[in-house]
Amino acid sequence: MTSRIPYLTERRAWKALENHYQEIRDIHLRDLFHDDPKRGENFTAETAGLYLDYSKNRITNETLRLLLQLADESGLRQKINAMFGGEKINTTEDRAVLHTALRAPKESSIIVDGENVAPGIHAVLDKMTDFSKRVRSGEWKGYTGKRIKNVVNIGIGGSDLGPVMAYEALKYYSDREMRFRFVSNVDGTDFVEATRDLDPAETLFIVSSKTFTTLETMTNAQSARDWLMSSLGDDIKAVARHFVAVSTNAPKVAEFGIDTANMFEFWDWVGGRYSMDSAIGLSTILAIDPDNFQALLDGFHQMDEHFRTAPLENNLPAIMGLLTVWYSNFFNAETVAVLPYEQYLKRFPAYLQQLTMESNGKHTALDGTQVTYQTGPIYWGEPGTNGQHSFYQLIHQGTRLIPCDFIAFSQSLNALGRHHDILLANVLAQAEALAFGKDADQVRAEGTPDELVPHRVFEGNRPSNILFAKQLTPEILGKIIALYEHSVFVQGVIWNIDSFDQWGVELGKVLAQKILPELETKTDVKLEHDSSTNNLINRYRRLRR
Ligand code: F6P
Repeated sequence: MTSRIPYLTERRAWKALENHYQEIRDIHLRDLFHDDPKRGENFTAETAGLYLDYSKNRITNETLRLLLQLADESGLRQKINAMFGGEKINTTEDRAVLHTALRAPKESSIIVDGENVAPGIHAVLDKMTDFSKRVRSGEWKGYTGKRIKNVVNIGIGGSDLGPVMAYEALKYYSDREMRFRFVSNVDGTDFVEATRDLDPAETLFIVSSKTFTTLETMTNAQSARDWLMSSLGDDIKAVARHFVAVSTNAPKVAEFGIDTANMFEFWDWVGGRYSMDSAIGLSTILAIDPDNFQALLDGFHQMDEHFRTAPLENNLPAIMGLLTVWYSNFFNAETVAVLPYEQYLKRFPAYLQQLTMESNGKHTALDGTQVTYQTGPIYWGEPGTNGQHSFYQLIHQGTRLIPCDFIAFSQSLNALGRHHDILLANVLAQAEALAFGKDADQVRAEGTPDELVPHRVFEGNRPSNILFAKQLTPEILGKIIALYEHSVFVQGVIWNIDSFDQWGVELGKVLAQKILPELETKTDVKLEHDSSTNNLINRYRRLRR
């Protein structure tokens, strides 16, 4: 299929978009809105309670038509079917990509290598449900007979960012009698600070690692085991009551000393950054309870179905993905800012960074050639309104074009006086100011001295999306995450890259394993790195305690 698709920049739609860009690049959003009084209603899409207003983008109907044609010429529809159908679209790892199966109904039939994976997925979900009920009710006791009050997830990357983000996002729904902590960094401070006020007898560790070989996670897990055993009398039996594992690697879990009966399985066709709705969500189900976890999965599934079946012109992930291509490749935008006006989503941009950048930060096309166009942009962001008082200056008046995704909700989970109206007034105002700005005549008319006029002009014409929903619930969170997952997929299809491998993280890991003994050795060793690395190793050895 891939070989029949012309190279991206040779596709007809691409060439047409290049010409179209020349026509549209100087048109201001003010004029687009002026010319179409219904633009704010027309350029919108909605599914299952999630509303996308993309009217404040630098597009016309013709732009959309050409972007959709590009999707068509890139085989997007076929590739969507290939992903959902369990084809091995992660070609560099020869794996299917089936995070969508994790939230599919029990009765689904999803075949991987001749086997229906749905029953296995639901068996693990049932096991997670049972375990979380036992821990939450106090039936599952620690080694000394105390109930578990603290849950510490040890993991990194996809085995951390999803769980942390979900815990923060859904804290409102969590059991406030329990404490949830997340240890990811190999910097010992992370573990020490996360556990310093915890009673080991009341603490459950979830060691989350797809591979169960990740250096950071295994180092932290080892320290957790030492911390626990030194307090509970060095009895290995304590480990069975205080450690569970989430992994695809049963032999390594057993080797660590965790009873594989207390292992929650997932599969190699779930990428780490797409795994928060697998058993990697064990801390989430413990925090928010099985019903809320199921609602989260239902939300994911609804967005999956929308993505799989909706015509591309009304398809939220397709629209968002294509807009990202439009700005990255034609406007040369280097980043996308994600700005949730919801405090509970404070870790959402960090979560998105792995999802988007580990997926689409690739310079090699599926056929092994080097791409000649930009791929994944840099995603970043902070919750509003905080960002308004730090980096928004650059978005409004800087020299770079930064498309923004605003996320907002009609109802607060913590209604407090006028707070929510103020919050919403701000998000709407920011999108309006970015789009329409304020020209020199308006600034002068306000009595601004001539010499200050240029400083106080807002050019506007800065694009943004607004994602709008009623309230942050587990279900809506699932929809928003799935929306971004599929938007990333759309981008990867257009760019003809493998969005599901991550070879770029390997070299640093290998070099760290080489450097580690050079730092730890007590004897002199001949260093054979570059002069900078050699010098820094020697400096560290001299100065460390
Ligand atoms: O180093 C990158 C990575 O492989 C991510 O893709 C993954 O989410 C993370 O490390 C953690 O891997 P694991 O779950 O196997 O410990």
